[in-house]
Order: sequence, then structure tokens, then C-alpha cells
Amino acid sequence: MKAPAMRYLLCTALCLAVLPAHAEDARTPLTLSATEAAAVNEEMRGFLEGVQEISRGLADNDMKAVAKAARALGMAGANHVPMSLRKKFPMAFKQMGHATHMGFDNLAIDAEGLGDTGHSLQQLSETLQNCNACHASFRLVAKGK
Ligand code: HEC
Repeated sequence: MKAPAMRYLLCTALCLAVLPAHAEDARTPLTLSATEAAAVNEEMRGFLEGVQEISRGLADNDMKAVAKAARALGMAGANHVPMSLRKKFPMAFKQMGHATHMGFDNLAIDAEGLGDTGHSLQQLSETLQNCNACHASFRLVAKGK
């Protein structure tokens, strides 16, 4: 075999080895109306904003700010989700959502009571595992209004 052909073959083999065979989305689709999907996404962006505020507070050793931001992401915030929407959530989705809100409530309580940034960071990391677990399991599909 000539050198250029050999190089071409080697290149193709390398590409095939490096690229994933098929980037299929194995997450469970959760079908909601466009309005409901927008509401879920809005809550999500609120989560990310809150996580930013918590990490800012931890960096500044401002535990009052940490507690305030965490509490806003706790169960009190979760209750704003309308029942009609909550009923559409599968059990696993509800459980991970609940664990996330509870995690932030615990973070708020301990940030105020203990004032220990290391402990709060540990709690933040544990709570964030719920975000990742749910994101790995579900995707939203918006249908209709
Ligand atoms: C109970 C499930 C669940 C939990 C818990 C969860 N998410 Fe999500 N999140 C989703 C789903 C589903 C989507 C849509 C993903 C898709 O369709 O690809 C999403 C989307 C998002 C988006 C994109 C929003 C947009 O406007 O496009 C952000 C940001 C986000 N999540 C942040 C977070 C953070 C931060 C946490 C944890 C503090 C979190 N989420 C916890 C289910 C969850």
C-alpha cells in the first residue's frame, strides 16, 4: 500500500475510534405543554442563580447571604409549582426535586446555625448531585401551548 493511502486509512480508523458511535439521547422524555416547560426551565435558571449566590456568599464568608439564597431554593419555593403541573411529574422526578429543595433548606439551617463554610460547601456539593442525577435521567419535550 502507498504511503498516502496508508495515512488515509490510519486517519479514518483513528476518527472512528475517537468519535462516539452514536450520540443517542437515553434520557426519559417528559412531555409538557410549552407554558409548563417554560415554567420548569424558569425554575431551573432560578436554581443556577441561587447556586451562584450561595457560592459567592461562601467565598465572602457571608453566611447570612448563604442562608438567604439557600432558603429561597428550599421547600417554600417548591410550593409555587401548580398542582396541575406537579401531577405530570413521574415519581423519580418528584423525588429528586424534593431532595434538592430539602437539601437547600438544610444548607440554610446549617449556614445560620453552624456558620461553617466547609460544611456548607459539602452540603452544596451533595445537593448538586440531585441536579446532575435528574439531568441525566430526564429531558423536556414541549407540545402544544
Ligand atoms: C427533578 C429533576 C431536576 C432537578 C432536581 C434539577 N433539574 Fe435542572 N433541568 C431538569 C430538566 C428535565 C431540564 C431540561 C433538560 C432538557 O430538556 O434537556 C433542566 C434544565 C436545566 C437548566 C436549563 C434551563 C433553560 O432555561 O434551558 C438549568 C440551568 C438547570 N436545569 C439547572 C439546575 C440546577 C442548578 C439544579 C440543582 C440545583 C437543577 N437544575 C435540578 C430537571 C431537573
